[in-house]
Amino acid sequence: MTALPPSRTDGRYRIGVVCLGNICRSPMAEVVLTERVAEAGLDDRVEVASCGTGDWHIGHPMDHRAAATLEAAGYDPSKHRAQQFAERWLDEYDVLLAMDAQNRTDVGGRDDDRVLMFRDFDPVDPGSDVPDPYYGGDDGFEEVLAMVERTSTAIVEALRAALEHPAPADGADRQ
Ligand code: 4NP
Repeated sequence: MTALPPSRTDGRYRIGVVCLGNICRSPMAEVVLTERVAEAGLDDRVEVASCGTGDWHIGHPMDHRAAATLEAAGYDPSKHRAQQFAERWLDEYDVLLAMDAQNRTDVGGRDDDRVLMFRDFDPVDPGSDVPDPYYGGDDGFEEVLAMVERTSTAIVEALRAALEHPAPADGADRQ
């Protein structure tokens, strides 16, 4: 199973999910993963946020198709407002999970062991891109939700392991 990098701070973990516009894929993942974390009783120790590498949608709510897909599955998409990736995310988060290979390149994390692919944790086709549903039909959003749900379950298992094995107290893990 793919492991998460150790926490930078004892006992807590911050995950940032990254896509292009921050109105479809990464906010869907943020909502589902946040729900799974709460179900696992880890919500006092784990924080999940999302951002996009592009600036077109800063401050906007989720794409209406992404929101409708989440709502139909019982999630609340209403609180999301899009924000743009900034360099500080590389320092402030324990891990960034990129939705596709271009997102990963765009955050500059190719050689950074704190930048992984979201689907590194997917039991089905691990390491693949989450396909961008923005220009397609509703099926694309259903497909993204299925990927995000099964992958979020696996990420929670990886979180349990990462929280059990925090970084060394001397900060040797820091860059
Ligand atoms: P996302 O999808 O990266 O999953 O949020 C997109 C949303 C908007 C655009 C592209 C992709 N756009 O070009 O505006």
